[in-house]
Amino acid sequence: MGGARDVGWVAAGLVLAAGACYCIYRLTRGQRRGARRLGLRPSRSAEDLTNGSYDDILNAEQLQKLLYLLESTEDPVIIEKALVTLGNNAAFSANQVIIRELGGITIIGSQINNPNQSIKEKALNALNNLSVNVENQIKIKVYVNQVCEDVLSGPLNSAEQLAGLRLLTNMTVTNDHQHVLSAYVAGLFHVLLTGNGSTKVQVLKLLLNLSENPAMTDGLLGAQVDSSFLSLFDVHVAKEILVRALTLFQNIDNCFKKEGRLVPQPPFPEGSLFYLLYGDECAQKMRALVYHHDTDVKEKVTMIPKF
Ligand SMILES: *[C@@H]1O[C@H](CO)[C@@H](O)[C@H](O)[C@H]1NC(C)=O
Ligand SMILES: *[C@@H]1O[C@H](CO)[C@@H](O)[C@H](O)[C@H]1NC(C)=O
Ligand SMILES: *[C@@H]1O[C@H](CO)[C@@H](O)[C@H](O)[C@H]1NC(C)=O
Ligand SMILES: *[C@@H]1O[C@H](CO)[C@@H](O)[C@H](O)[C@H]1NC(C)=O
Ligand SMILES: *[C@@H]1O[C@H](CO)[C@@H](O)[C@H](O)[C@H]1NC(C)=O
Ligand SMILES: *[C@@H]1O[C@H](CO)[C@@H](O)[C@H](O)[C@H]1NC(C)=O
Repeated sequence: MGGARDVGWVAAGLVLAAGACYCIYRLTRGQRRGARRLGLRPSRSAEDLTNGSYDDILNAEQLQKLLYLLESTEDPVIIEKALVTLGNNAAFSANQVIIRELGGITIIGSQINNPNQSIKEKALNALNNLSVNVENQIKIKVYVNQVCEDVLSGPLNSAEQLAGLRLLTNMTVTNDHQHVLSAYVAGLFHVLLTGNGSTKVQVLKLLLNLSENPAMTDGLLGAQVDSSFLSLFDVHVAKEILVRALTLFQNIDNCFKKEGRLVPQPPFPEGSLFYLLYGDECAQKMRALVYHHDTDVKEKVTMIPKF
């Protein structure tokens, strides 16, 4: 019963949205110059704002309609289409500001809790595009804990896990919000070691961002990491993984040495990354990599001074 009413409401909403947008389209057609001055371009075809292949830039009114639609519908197909359209529009810097000012980050952010994995992924993608803007990052920050927990507990190698990792990577491009990830470092290493190639590369990109920040060094070196981590330094490992793993080592080593501490205070616990990186087995692997056939790999190894 409620379901049928919902469908009716959604259909009415769509017609309303489409109708309103068509009016806006007619109106704005005569005001192109004015709209251009505002940095907004009226759409050529606004009949269906939720059409995912729609490649024009929506204006503020259209974005507002779309956010309203997203807030008021429970139809997964419409939610997903609205998120994709908003995500595509969030690739443009003017729209990143408009969507934030319309309260869109909260509306999109609430969809990362949607039990439908496909919708969750689209919400994460949209937030990722919105995260290019520094002020948006401040608003997106409240979702970082949730995204971390989903990345660590969600299905391994899934599209939504990758989307979450991408969002976390872009949220750590600066050092501003990295401390939020401190509690999840050991979990991220676990995903790194259990995930497939695509997952490994994305986790490494994220860890690389953290590794350049001296404030994160103790958290990284103190994390409990399985000894299979060292197999990332095996000779046959794919270059895109091997070079990133070596860069991770190099960055952490640089930050650690910069602090001039030969003996860590307090000492890192048994089973931590510190023991793996500065142990005999790792030293052996580095010596073997000096003879690697790839010059980029060789170069990286020689940049870790100990070897
Ligand atoms: C979406 O828009 C494209 C281009 O305007 C059109 O070819 C396509 O049929 C539309 N798809 C849907 C589902 O409306
Ligand atoms: C999840 O959303 C997609 C996209 O709209 C839809 O096709 C699918 O049926 C939904 N899955 C579930 C389990 O509701
Ligand atoms: C995000 O932005 C990129 C360009 O930066 C674009 O290719 C992509 O389609 C956008 N949309 C989503 C949902 O990621
Ligand atoms: C994420 O950050 C990378 C590196 O800074 C950048 O190239 C990319 O465009 C960003 N992606 C999105 C969707 O913002
Ligand atoms: C990782 O797993 C996902 C999901 O099964 C798959 O789509 C992707 O192609 C895999 N990547 C690699 C490099 O194996
Ligand atoms: C994070 O990584 C991206 C590329 O993935 C890079 O552009 C950015 O400078 C890095 N930021 C930090 C703080 O390391």
